[in-house]
Amino acid sequence: MNSKRKNGIAPSEITAEPVWRSRRRWLVRAALAPAALATPGLVDATAGEPFGAKLAAPPDKRLSTTEAANGWRDITTYNNFYEFGTGKEDPSRYAGRMRLDPWTVTVDGAVRRPMTLDVDALRRLAPLEERVYRLRCVEAWSMVIPWTGYSLSRLLARVEPTGDAHYVVFTTALQPDVMPGVAAGILDWPYTEGLRMDEAMHPLTLLTFGVYGRVLPAQNGAPLRVVVPWKYGFKSAKSLVRIHLQAERPITSWMRAAPDEYGFYANVNPAVPHPRWSQATERRIGSGFFAPRVATQPFNGYGDTVAALYRGMDLRRNF
Ligand code: MTE
Repeated sequence: MNSKRKNGIAPSEITAEPVWRSRRRWLVRAALAPAALATPGLVDATAGEPFGAKLAAPPDKRLSTTEAANGWRDITTYNNFYEFGTGKEDPSRYAGRMRLDPWTVTVDGAVRRPMTLDVDALRRLAPLEERVYRLRCVEAWSMVIPWTGYSLSRLLARVEPTGDAHYVVFTTALQPDVMPGVAAGILDWPYTEGLRMDEAMHPLTLLTFGVYGRVLPAQNGAPLRVVVPWKYGFKSAKSLVRIHLQAERPITSWMRAAPDEYGFYANVNPAVPHPRWSQATERRIGSGFFAPRVATQPFNGYGDTVAALYRGMDLRRNF
């Protein structure tokens, strides 16, 4: 018998709401969870030479950590970019299919001078610097990465925020035909993230165009992303297409997917465990699976300059 199609969808293809919900919950829980044997990047931290167009930028030692950076291979093959799948190697396998040209970013909302700029115009907007930041993922691993970019505040100043600009929302690219992870339904796409205005204006918040002095590889968020080093890695949205300023606090993709697990602030905090695992220690990728875990630092070690942003706030409630 022929199945009757409604809106071109066979009844057998429609998943009942409770089934869909529990499937979504399972996918979210499986996605950002420490994987016991996820060890791909651990082979040789020094192998693999940087490649791609050069992006010259003098180092900014003031804002950089002195820890040794991870190798190119770790940084470009052990990634989270769920649009391309949940496996750590999926982004390096599939993100190369993303269409990067033409690419524009729209900066709008509560601003006097909204603008849409292409990547070259954005790159030229302020002098590029190299900053070596620790990246601490919510899954309790970390890396040290030399990024190239400039403080997001330089771009935000250009658009002249109005008095209503209390929050910044980042929207990232959605190209379902080349993003195999989108159909899996882990998140409501496009991936969105957000910061409070003072967080977005903090000098550490980096509008990022490169890594290791080369343009960003697709898997690291080409052609540009944000990097917020004192927050769990999921706040550092990749492949930005829109930066929107607004009065209300946004509900971001991870908050929508699992509000009890992923809060708006997501400041690195060893004293506040994730509901399903501890955040007290971390595994540095590249140091070998049996290397001792290191203690996680409050605000990922950037507390001296960012703790003041949260004075008087209960960071257990505002996780
Ligand atoms: N941005 C988008 N668009 N999609 C994602 O899945 N993952 C986040 C963040 N930005 C993600 C994203 C997470 S969970 C982490 S830890 C960092 O990117 C990882 O950045 P990296 O792969 O360059 O180290």
